[in-house]
Amino acid sequence: MALTFDRHRRLRKSAAMRNLVRENHVRVEDLIYPLFVVEGTGIKNEIASMPGVYQLSLDMLAEEMKEIVELGIQSVLMFGVPEHKDACGTEAYNDEAITQQAIRQIKEAHPEMIVIADTCLCEYTDHGHCGVIHEGEVVNDETLALLGKTAVSQAKAGADIIAPSNMMDGFVIAIREALDEAGFQHIPIMSYAVKYASSFYGPFRDAAGSTPQFGDRKSYQMDAANAREGLREAASDVKEGADFLIVKPGLAFMDMVLRLRENFNLPIVAYNVSAEYSMVKAAAQNGWIDEERIVMETLVSFKRAGADLIITYHAKDVAKWLAR
Ligand code: PBG
Repeated sequence: MALTFDRHRRLRKSAAMRNLVRENHVRVEDLIYPLFVVEGTGIKNEIASMPGVYQLSLDMLAEEMKEIVELGIQSVLMFGVPEHKDACGTEAYNDEAITQQAIRQIKEAHPEMIVIADTCLCEYTDHGHCGVIHEGEVVNDETLALLGKTAVSQAKAGADIIAPSNMMDGFVIAIREALDEAGFQHIPIMSYAVKYASSFYGPFRDAAGSTPQFGDRKSYQMDAANAREGLREAASDVKEGADFLIVKPGLAFMDMVLRLRENFNLPIVAYNVSAEYSMVKAAAQNGWIDEERIVMETLVSFKRAGADLIITYHAKDVAKWLAR
């Protein structure tokens, strides 16, 4: 009896054949580009650990935005880095603070751009934690009110989407209620639903100046060992009114992208975080890897795992590669 087997290679024979059967694609519309804005003028500081990523003052941001629009990128994620920081992160919910100014400026110049505001306190607090501190502990419920105020202030400035990254319990419902009360029923919430306490945020904390001054974030961000807990976190956020679910970090936690895809029908967003970017850049600068192919393979893998959208510092490069 002849051995029988399947001929999978038939569909891989030529580039045209492979194009014909390709299941997933990365589109420029899938990309969300993070931006770091600082006070002052003429500032374009490259982040040492993130080559090609800058802290920008508002005048430099204007130039950057022109390039982003020309590349066809249609969504940006805003991080403000204020000069004044205090225990309660006052600059987070000050209507005239740097983040709000940046949002207003972008929406005035580019009304069609989707401006997503990261809603957290860690860039704004002097202790670098994501909430209010009492006796060395980050307190949950007092922090919620401040997050609500921050989201409303960002929506007033023109943010199209609020993206709370702070991992307090109840943050989605607190922000939803605050937005609704202020007349922003139409503004969606892109929740960092499954966010781990991760070493992959190291370079970001250089960019945002948000390293905790004591302790760590393990009492509010998730333990890297846990998957089922991530499903509970996501279920809470869905119940509380989230419109998008983010998995962060994306690469080492891609199983969570798939798990959310299989359990929820909301749009899912993978955050390709700072250290994932830095590792690729470092290896590419050493000539050890083919940067373009590594990045495109990573991004299509997010799509294959079930992500609809990808937040990535590679977005500008990817837009250039896709346009070729
Ligand atoms: C704010 C926030 C962080 C990141 C996004 N929003 C830092 C943190 O939680 O410590 C990290 C993003 C990255 O590493 O690219 N809470």
